[in-house]
Amino acid sequence: MSGGFEEVDTRSKTERLAELAEQAKSCSACSLSRTRTNVVFGVGNPEAPLVIIGEGPGQNEDSTGIPFVGRSGILLDECLKVCGITRKHIYICNVIRCRACQYEAGRLQNRPPTAEEAKACQPWLEQTLQIIRPLVILCLGSPSANAIIHRNFRMSQERGQWYESKYARHTMASWHPAYILRMEGEAYSNAKNDLINDIEQARKRVILARKEPPKTSLFDE
Ligand code: URA
Repeated sequence: MSGGFEEVDTRSKTERLAELAEQAKSCSACSLSRTRTNVVFGVGNPEAPLVIIGEGPGQNEDSTGIPFVGRSGILLDECLKVCGITRKHIYICNVIRCRACQYEAGRLQNRPPTAEEAKACQPWLEQTLQIIRPLVILCLGSPSANAIIHRNFRMSQERGQWYESKYARHTMASWHPAYILRMEGEAYSNAKNDLINDIEQARKRVILARKEPPKTSLFDE
């Protein structure tokens, strides 16, 4: 603080995010730091009005350092494309930034983050969202909805509904692409259509939210 005014960071969102991503490379807040190849920080447009938050990196993401590049990512990109959205329009990150995995049937399998891992990684997520300040957030899967919307989020009952969260005025959760990929036939098509529909709702919500007055202003009454 100086002279009663908060200090303003005049660097661009891109610069601030890049600095944060650099700091995250040396994070050792949980044991996943010991097995990771790369910290998978986030990708896309730091000025984006829409942020998509997944669960955590898998094997492909761990080896490339880029979120959603495996089978889930291919499905996500396909659904985004139906709505006219590419990765240049949005920012994508995860609840945890290092791969969580365990040995099963003799090989390493991805697993959901534990509550402790999600908590250890939360400062990175919070700082990311504080820099981007998205108008709309779309959470993919329960760990993301639990971290962002509320701790007891029930995907089967609350998917597709709008919530105001601490991180964005308009926040919604949808099926995780990996969950959709485990389905077959009609169940697969229905869940995929739900995801497309939720992305489209998020796109439309951005348009509406842009017309709203900013949430807080120093000069508001
Ligand atoms: N699943 C996620 O939740 N995030 C990724 O980055 C990849 C797969």
